[in-house]
Amino acid sequence: MNTIPDPAGTQAATSPAATSKDGAADPATTIRRVSGTELLTTANPLWAYAFSSSPVPDEQVERQRAELESGEADDSRVNLVAFGGDEAEAVVAGISMRHNVRGTVFPMVGISGVATHPKARRRGHVRTLLTQMHEEMRDSGHVLSTLYPFRQSFYERFGYVGFPKPRSIRLEARGLERMLRVEVPGEVSVHRIGEVFDDYYALLETLLRERHGFSIFTRAGTVEVAKENKHWIVLARHEGEVVGALLYRTNGFGNELQGRQLLTRGPIGRTLLLQWLARHHDQYSSFTFELPPDERPDLWYVDLAYDDETKVSGPNHSAPMGRVLSVPGLAGIATGAARATVEVVDDPFVAGTWTLDGRGGTLEVTPGSAGGNGSGGTARLTSHGLAALVYGVIDPAELTLQGYGTVDAETAQALRTIFPPAAPYLFSGF
Ligand SMILES: CC(C)(COP(=O)(O)OP(=O)(O)OC[C@H]1O[C@@H](n2cnc3c(N)ncnc32)[C@H](O)[C@@H]1OP(=O)(O)O)[C@@H](O)C(=O)NCCC(=O)NCCS
Repeated sequence: MNTIPDPAGTQAATSPAATSKDGAADPATTIRRVSGTELLTTANPLWAYAFSSSPVPDEQVERQRAELESGEADDSRVNLVAFGGDEAEAVVAGISMRHNVRGTVFPMVGISGVATHPKARRRGHVRTLLTQMHEEMRDSGHVLSTLYPFRQSFYERFGYVGFPKPRSIRLEARGLERMLRVEVPGEVSVHRIGEVFDDYYALLETLLRERHGFSIFTRAGTVEVAKENKHWIVLARHEGEVVGALLYRTNGFGNELQGRQLLTRGPIGRTLLLQWLARHHDQYSSFTFELPPDERPDLWYVDLAYDDETKVSGPNHSAPMGRVLSVPGLAGIATGAARATVEVVDDPFVAGTWTLDGRGGTLEVTPGSAGGNGSGGTARLTSHGLAALVYGVIDPAELTLQGYGTVDAETAQALRTIFPPAAPYLFSGF
C-alpha cells in the first residue's frame, strides 16, 4: 500500500460545536472509532433505526453480543461515530477492499452504514464524519472510494459521480435448449457454496485483476456466503481453470431459478453456464441473474428471450457512485497516448493543477502545469469531472452539461484519448 501524506495534518478527534436550528451551540461533538461490543450501544441502534426493524428485541442484541465476543475482529472495517455527550448520534462505516481501475488494483474504501439519529440530523454530523473517513482512509493508502447512495445528489456534494447500474436479467427458458447443441470445450460442476468457497474466491481474485471497476472484500469479509451455505454454485472450467460461476437458489417447480451475478471471464465460461441453465429448461420458467452493465445478452444466441428488469431508484435500487481520493495515487493505470493539464477545483482531496501524461501507455501524474495541452488550454474540473474521466463514464464534452467542468475541444480530445470510455462493474454490494 502506498501511503499518501496528510498535507493538512488534520486527524481531528473533536469537531467544532454543531449548531442547533435555533442557533444555540450544541455541546462539542466527539468523533472516534468504535468496534467490538461497544457497537451494541452506539452504531448498531443507529443502523437498526435507519435500515432495519427497531427497536431490536433484547434476545437479538444478546445474540449479536455473543457473535461479537466470539468472532474475530474485522480489521477491514472502520466505524466512525459522532457522540453528543455520551450518546451516539451519527455513524459512518468504511470497508477496506480492493478495486480495479483500468487494469490496476488499488485499495478502495467502500462507504456504508451512513446514518444520523433523526434528533441530530442536519447539524453537519455526516459531513464531518464522511470528510474524516475520506481523510483517514486516504492517509492509509486508499486511492478511491465507492458507495451505493440513497439519493445521488446527497453524495454528489461529496465529490462522487454515478456509475452505470448492473443489469437485472430474467432469461426465459423458451429457446434456451438451443444452447445444449453447442460444442464448447470445458465442463461444469455443481456444489453447495460451502464446499468450494476457495475456488469461488480465487475466481473473484482473477476477475479483480481482469475487469475495470471490479471490487472484492477481504476473504474474511466474503466468507459469510459459505458459512450460510444457502446457495448452489455452478463452476465452469476450461483447461482446468475456472472461467465462470453462478451462485443460485431454486425457487419451486415451474417458477424460477434465482441467480446472483453471472460471473464469466469470456464467452466459453458464459456458454458453459448457459448450458447448465438450459438443462433446467422444462423445470423452470425463467432464470434471473445480474450482469455487468456493458454485457449484451441480446446477442448471446438466436431466439433468445429475456426481460431487462434493471431498476434505478433510491433508496434501495440505486446505481453505485465513486470518487478519487488521491490524484498521484492513480499513477500507473492504463491510458491512451496523450497528455493534458487539468485544474481540479472545490474539493479537499483532489483540488490542484495536475498534468496527466499517458503517452507511455500508463498514467504519469505531475503536480502543476507542463506548458498547457498544446493549445495552451486547461480543463477545469470538479471532483466528479475527474472521477468521471478516470472511470470512463462521461465523455469530456458532456462534463459541462452536467456541471462537472469546462473543457475546450482540444483538451477534451486529449482527455478522451487518455481515458477512453469504460463501464466500471463494482460487483461487491455493501
Ligand atoms: C441522510 C442522512 C445520513 C444525513 O445525515 P445528516 O447528519 O443530517 O447530514 P449533514 O447534516 O451532515 O448534511 C450534509 C449535507 O447534506 C445535506 N442534506 C442532509 N440531509 C439531506 C437529505 N435528506 N437530502 C439532501 N440533502 C441533505 C445537508 O444540507 C448538508 O449539506 P451541506 O453540508 O452542503 O450544507 C440522515 O438524514 C439519515 O440518517 N437518513 C436515514 C438513513 C439514510 O438514508 N442513510 C444514507 C444511506 S446511503
